[in-house]
Amino acid sequence: MSFDDGSGMAEGLWWQTGVIYQIYPRSFSDASGDGVGDLRGVINRLDYIVGLGIDAIWLSPIYPSPMADFGYDVSSYVDIDPVFGTLDDFDELLSQAHQRGIRVILDLVLNHTSDEHPWFIESRSSRSSPKRDWYLWRDPAPDGGVPNNWTAFFGGSTWELDEGTGQFYLHLCHRKQPDLNWRNPDVRAAIYDVMRFWFDRGVDGFRIDALWILIKDEDFTDNPEPPSQHGEGFIGGYMRPGFEDHSEVQDIVSEMRMVADEYPERVLMGEIYLPVERLVRYYGEDLTGLHLPFNFGLVTTTEWGARSASRLVATYEAALPEGAWPNWVLGNHDQPRIASRAGEADSRMAQMLLLTLQGTPICYFGDELGMRDCVIPDEFTVDPQAAAGRSRDGARTPMQWSLAPHAGFTTPHAVPWLPVDGSYPNINVEVQDVDPRSHLSLFRRLIELRREHPALHLGSQKVMNGDREELLVFLREHNGDRVLVILNFGSSVLAVDSMEVGEKARVLCSTLMDRFGDVYISSLELRSHEGLLLALTDAG
Ligand code: BGC
Repeated sequence: MSFDDGSGMAEGLWWQTGVIYQIYPRSFSDASGDGVGDLRGVINRLDYIVGLGIDAIWLSPIYPSPMADFGYDVSSYVDIDPVFGTLDDFDELLSQAHQRGIRVILDLVLNHTSDEHPWFIESRSSRSSPKRDWYLWRDPAPDGGVPNNWTAFFGGSTWELDEGTGQFYLHLCHRKQPDLNWRNPDVRAAIYDVMRFWFDRGVDGFRIDALWILIKDEDFTDNPEPPSQHGEGFIGGYMRPGFEDHSEVQDIVSEMRMVADEYPERVLMGEIYLPVERLVRYYGEDLTGLHLPFNFGLVTTTEWGARSASRLVATYEAALPEGAWPNWVLGNHDQPRIASRAGEADSRMAQMLLLTLQGTPICYFGDELGMRDCVIPDEFTVDPQAAAGRSRDGARTPMQWSLAPHAGFTTPHAVPWLPVDGSYPNINVEVQDVDPRSHLSLFRRLIELRREHPALHLGSQKVMNGDREELLVFLREHNGDRVLVILNFGSSVLAVDSMEVGEKARVLCSTLMDRFGDVYISSLELRSHEGLLLALTDAG
């Protein structure tokens, strides 16, 4: 697929050519010494982020919250939780990030608020409250039980009885996260004002949480039994018609886009766990929807290998609307880390894949080091989703900065809110920073190459591996700049054989960081689990 079509996108906008890095603020860097990461911690680490070559950071929620879901339960949309700092700290972060050329994207949690948000407190105060209709209230079933059979993502029924008013409210996630009624125009207007509040402050965009479940079936019809595959958290097929992917969500998306378009060059990214054909509808008609509906293919795939990767690319490319900008996600705070899913060697290949595929890469903090999921003993488990047997704590443990106590995440006498993974003496920034072959050095080099080569940040993409079982090969190309990406997912040495791309090439980078110089493609061999980036030097 190619974008060099005179569409005006030839040079690319920042969110197209750049790399986005997700920070889970509780776990990134703790400056205050209370064991929880904070904004000052992020400010202190901005130079590290610059050194990675990142263009934008996305911060998971930092708003006031009772932390029942660690910030995804918002009790005020227009302030900062004291655990993270103050609005002044936020303004300083924004300004210091901008001075360094780093954009800042916030998380917009709008399917639900906290039950401690003043809107909900008012809504539950009486059946005749002016905000009653801001949330979804239903009478008990005739037998006094829950209004329907819907099950929450965090386990149990989606309905919680409010004793005071005798009605149930809906919560698709935790019972402390009541769902807003997005059919109510006042709710929409209030959230759009929240967006303007942050845009006016200079925020560069939003990652919109749980976007595909905003609108619920008007009659609250039972979901088919059993809800099946969707047992796996947010991942799975389209199995919950009661609250997934209603067409009215598209109207909301275009309204949000209009708000974003009141400001120059803002970005809207959306969390949507749907099959690709449905996902791409969130680009909106004539691309008037989200800029980047998250493509979770690399996260949700159950197989890790050349075949599945090339299948993912092909399916995605076939589904993308004309002119839509692709994106790839490798990990986030809800999913097991890539180094645990794929293993150490393949996690290096995964970084190469993420940072060379066509479209915007979205990276999860710590993956640049190859951080693994931490095994958390039951007594330290804090994730509310653990109640449904799917704790996400393992992927949320503190960033591993150094050999210092608690991996340098917090002060020596503090107790980190989640344990630090035992791998930290080997997997940390301090050690990897000075090792030219480390995971971190690879990550930085890949971003450097991505920046240097228009083929990588703007170019067309062609998958060329044919039906080779263990080799994934694709060509990126822009105005004569040609870069070939070859990944050997197999456990033996593989010859590349000749390809229709010419013979001569120069090694830009091996995932093992030990190959340089000129090569001939027909005599090239890749070691097991090695990825190679080649600049093609024959005329194209
Ligand atoms: C966030 C989760 C959160 C859930 C409820 C998600 O999709 O990524 O971390 O628990 O929304 O807000």
